[in-house]
Order: sequence, then C-alpha cells, then structure tokens
Amino acid sequence: MLIDSHCHLDFLEREGDDLAGVVARARSADVGGMVTIGTKLSEIDKVIAIAERFPQVWCSVGVHPHEAREQGQKTPDRLLALARHPKVVGIGETGLDYFYEHSPREEQRESFRAHIAAARSARLPVIVHSRDAEEETLKILAEEQGKGAFAGVIHCFSGSTTLAEGALALGMSISLAGILTFKKAEDLRKTAGKIPLERLLVETDSPYLAPVPKRGKRNEPAFVAHTAALLAEIKGVAPAELAAITTENFFRLFSRAERSLAA
Ligand code: NI
Repeated sequence: MLIDSHCHLDFLEREGDDLAGVVARARSADVGGMVTIGTKLSEIDKVIAIAERFPQVWCSVGVHPHEAREQGQKTPDRLLALARHPKVVGIGETGLDYFYEHSPREEQRESFRAHIAAARSARLPVIVHSRDAEEETLKILAEEQGKGAFAGVIHCFSGSTTLAEGALALGMSISLAGILTFKKAEDLRKTAGKIPLERLLVETDSPYLAPVPKRGKRNEPAFVAHTAALLAEIKGVAPAELAAITTENFFRLFSRAERSLAA
C-alpha cells in the first residue's frame, strides 16, 4: 500500500472532480491514504471538511509561501488552534519560493518560522516547499532546530544534492513527486539514488505535475504509483518493498495519522 503524502483535493474539487471517485481510484491503485494540504487559512475549512469526509484522507494546516503577503503568520497561534483537529497531521505547506516570489521574501521567512514554531509545539511535522531558496531554507531549518527539535519533510523535492544532504542532516525527510519521472530530471534521479530509503516519502502534489505516463493530465493521488514504481527502480528494490518502506516512513513521520484508517 502506498500513501500520497501531499495532494490538494480542494483544488481537484474546485476543478469539478468528484472526490469520492478520486479516493476510489486511489484505492484501486493501492493508494490507501493521502494528506490534503492547506495553502490558505481563508480556505482551510474546506480542506478540513474533505478530511472529515473520508477516513483515509488526512490534512495539514498552513499558508503557502505564495500567500505570505496576504495571509502569512507572524505567530504560531492560529495554526496551533487549527491543529487541535484530530484529522490535522501536519503544519504547512510553508517555506520559501524565491522563484516566483509572489510574496516579499521577508514575509515568507517570518511565516516559515511561525509554522516551524507551531510544528515544534504541536509535535507535528512541518511540510516545506523550497524553490530557488536552498541556502536560506537550510539556514532557517538549522537556526530553528537550534531553538528546539521538530520534524518535517521537504515536499516535492526538486533541489540539489546539497539541499538533500543538508535537510537530511537536520533530520528532515524528503518527498518525491512526479518531477522524478520527467525526461529532463536526470540530476534529480541521481540525487534520489543517494537518499536513504528510510527517509523517503512519495506524493503527487496533485492536481499539478502528473508523472509520466500521465504527464499533461490532471494529476490525482492514484498516479503516485507511477512515481513510486520509478523510485523503486532507482533504489533497486521491488515496488512492493518500496511501497512498504515509504508507507512505514509516512506513519512514523505523520504520527498522528491512524494507520487503521488507511484502506
Ligand atoms: Ni503543494
């Protein structure tokens, strides 16, 4: 059984998908659970409602770095209040995006630190988005680890081996999405080959970035199987073993997710 550690079911719903069908197709592809990720607190009720609707769907609460200008958090308070909900298993997605830079960098950094503080205090993993901001991502993670331990994952990893090694040294896990299967992602496949199996997760980040052979289609949790199959090949293990290990890793990191709800 696989787990899609990062998807956006509220976006799929907005695009007109019937979520019961999405979850059923995931189940048929042996994807027994998924985390639908919060990106805005103004929309968080919808995200939580989806997690309440399906036993095998969990959620996270957070403000995407793109939204930091409008909704960035200065303190962990609101995140912590939302994190009391039993289906909330992580804090994020947060982090830094200096590629699009939709929000000022200082506001992204401030909100990132507030999310880490919430993760530390709630004992939930922080879900980190990092694009064109590798050095600063590592700097903030290291400084914050110095203030007190927290766990987390670099999601939709597409960075350098330096970022992977730095994040691993800080205790982070690494989640791979469909980009791994793209023709041009040779460097990413090499980096993935170096990441210890026990620190790897898989995700879709759906509705974006559908893996080959679904590339260009609307992505959904069922398709995580394609990314996992390629990852198994890279790591030289059987697909069933890769599934078992990444699922184990998921439940260890997202420890509030009840395994008995996966199906
Ligand atoms: Ni995402």
